[in-house]
This record gives sequence, structure tokens and C-alpha cells, in this order.
Amino acid sequence: DVQSMQERFEDSFDIGAAVELYQLEGEHGEVLKHHYGSVVAENVMKPLYIQPEEGEFYWDDADQLVDFANEHDLDLRYHTLIWHSQVPEWFFIDENGNPMVEEEDPDQREANKELLLDRMETHIKTVVERYKDDVDAWDVLNEVVDDGGGLRESEWYQITGDEYIKRAFHAAREAGGEDAKLFLNDYNTEINPKRDDLYDLVERMLAEGVPIDGIGHQAHIQLDWPTIEETEESIRMFDSLGLETHITELDVSLYGYPPTPAFDTYADIPEEAFERQAERYHQLFTLYESLDDAITNITFWGIADDHTWLDDRAEEFNDGVGKDAPFVFDVDMHVKPAYWAMMSEE
Ligand code: XIL
Repeated sequence: DVQSMQERFEDSFDIGAAVELYQLEGEHGEVLKHHYGSVVAENVMKPLYIQPEEGEFYWDDADQLVDFANEHDLDLRYHTLIWHSQVPEWFFIDENGNPMVEEEDPDQREANKELLLDRMETHIKTVVERYKDDVDAWDVLNEVVDDGGGLRESEWYQITGDEYIKRAFHAAREAGGEDAKLFLNDYNTEINPKRDDLYDLVERMLAEGVPIDGIGHQAHIQLDWPTIEETEESIRMFDSLGLETHITELDVSLYGYPPTPAFDTYADIPEEAFERQAERYHQLFTLYESLDDAITNITFWGIADDHTWLDDRAEEFNDGVGKDAPFVFDVDMHVKPAYWAMMSEE
């Protein structure tokens, strides 16, 4: 066995992976247990799966991951209590069956707002109370800032303004107690105007007593983007607010965005691309280690190149064919150049 990533970085931060349940077994399960100290659900803890119908909570899948984490002594990140995506539509339908976002009557709009906030709090409290002894960090909210700056105009925002942000954190604190670590998670946190608007939002929320403990930087990055200086600057900025830093969804795509031209299959990816990726991983982990007073967890959004959400993107822009390869293990679960590069002590 090659050296465990978790062991290598134990003194600096935990190393985590996002998983689907089938990956808890077989080869994936072995790699997971050897190399990682933390897990997160790639999908099964999102609102769509946890509460598909109002009042009907579905715990079986989430429980499986919780049991696995406990059994193997892994930290558990909960992703995600609230999000604009993978959320069931019923949240946003009023008691007359009308879409809340289309309501024009001011009294009904006010009633809808309270109904939605109530539903949100019920969701958060039910989940947090159930898992508070198992979960080490909560993504309370995911992706609330727009890429172009300002708050994302999600249904949450259109119906409640920024009220949902405050109430979500307060509800999580109330249910989870002082020990619950509450995170605001987002992508492109390195890039302006989004970075500065996220910073201003968090600073304002903290000043208003909203209990935010940490920032999750998703870090869906590319070979040359964002620059390492942008990554460093962003981590330092949020750290300076006194918040904990997690890197929550790390992957290093071989492509830009949109991802063209894609390599059709794994075998089409040239060695040179893996070498460039290795340099990128080395650069990143050198930075992360130098910032280990700030960073406490680094989670990859997957385990090995056989399963990555980035393939959906590569395919979407390339007539259904395309393969990405963002991790440090290849499609056969063997270590790549990127593994040696991130583990290197130089
Ligand atoms: C993705 C999953 O990886 C996919 O399987 C699913 O189809 C869509 O969601 N940002 C997030 C994650 O916060 O929840 C997303 O996960 C990837 C982008």
C-alpha cells in the first residue's frame, strides 16, 4: 500500500471524499478507509432526497453513510441543509397550490414568506437534531451568492430576501447547540465580484450575530484557473474574519469552461495532461500546507477518476462523449502522478 493521504496530512488537516453509497464497498471502500479521514455524501443528504414530500423524511441512505463514518472513525461533513438546486418543488408551492414566486398580492406574499421560512426551519431542525452527534461540520447553505455578484436570485431569495440566510443559521445553531460547526459553502470564491460580495455578506451577517463558523471553498478548479495567488488571497480573506476554512469539493478538471475539446475516453488523455495536473496538485497542496492554521479539512468531490460529476459536463458540451480525470487516483483506483505530487514533502 502507498502512504495514506490522511496520515501524510494528519498534523495539518483532514482529507475527505464525497461518496455515493455503492462506493462504501469493494475497491472504493478500501481506498476510502486507507486514505481518508472524512466523508461527505455526494447526493443522499440533499433536501430532495431527505424530504422528497413535505413531512416525509427518508433516512435510510443517509443513515448508511452515518453508520459507515462512525464504524470507521471518519469525520462526517453534512452537505447540504439548504440549496437552490436538488430541492423538492413543494417547498415553494403555497397552501393554495400556487407557485410562491408568482404571487403578486402583498399579504399573500408575506404569508408565503413565513410559510417557506417555517418549512425551512422544520427541515433544518429535524435533520440537525437527528444527526447532531454524528456530524462534524454542516453545510448550512450552499451557493447563496451569484457569479455576477450580489445574492443569487434563487426561489429562496425571491420569496424571503436575505431572511432565509439568517434564519437558516439560527435554526441550525438552535438545534445543534454551540458545538455544531456551521458552514457557508460556495464555488468560485476566488473570483471577483463574487469573492468580495461573499466577504461583505459574511461580514455583515457576523455583525448581526448570525452564527457562521466557517467558509467552505468548493474549489472546482482547472489546470491554470484560478491562479494560485487568487486561491491564497481568498483563503486568507475569509480566515481574517476569524472563520474556519474547509476546502469542500476539490477537483482539478483537465478542461476550461465550457469543457471543449473533451477527450472522448480515458485512454485518449495524454500523459502530458496528467503531468500538468500533477504540477497543479503540488502547487495547491504546498499552499494548503502553508495555510494549515486556517484550513482544517480538504475534501475531494469524489475518490477516483472512474466516477466524477465533471463527466456530465464534458459530455454535455460535446455531443454526449467526453471524459474528465480530476483526482489523484485513476479509473482503476491506482495512484496517478498527481498523488505523488501532492504527497511530496518538497
Ligand atoms: C453534484 C453531484 O456530484 C452530482 O452527482 C449531482 O447530479 C449534482 O450535484 N456543487 C455542489 C455539489 O455543491 O452538491 C454538486 O454535486 C457539485 C457542484
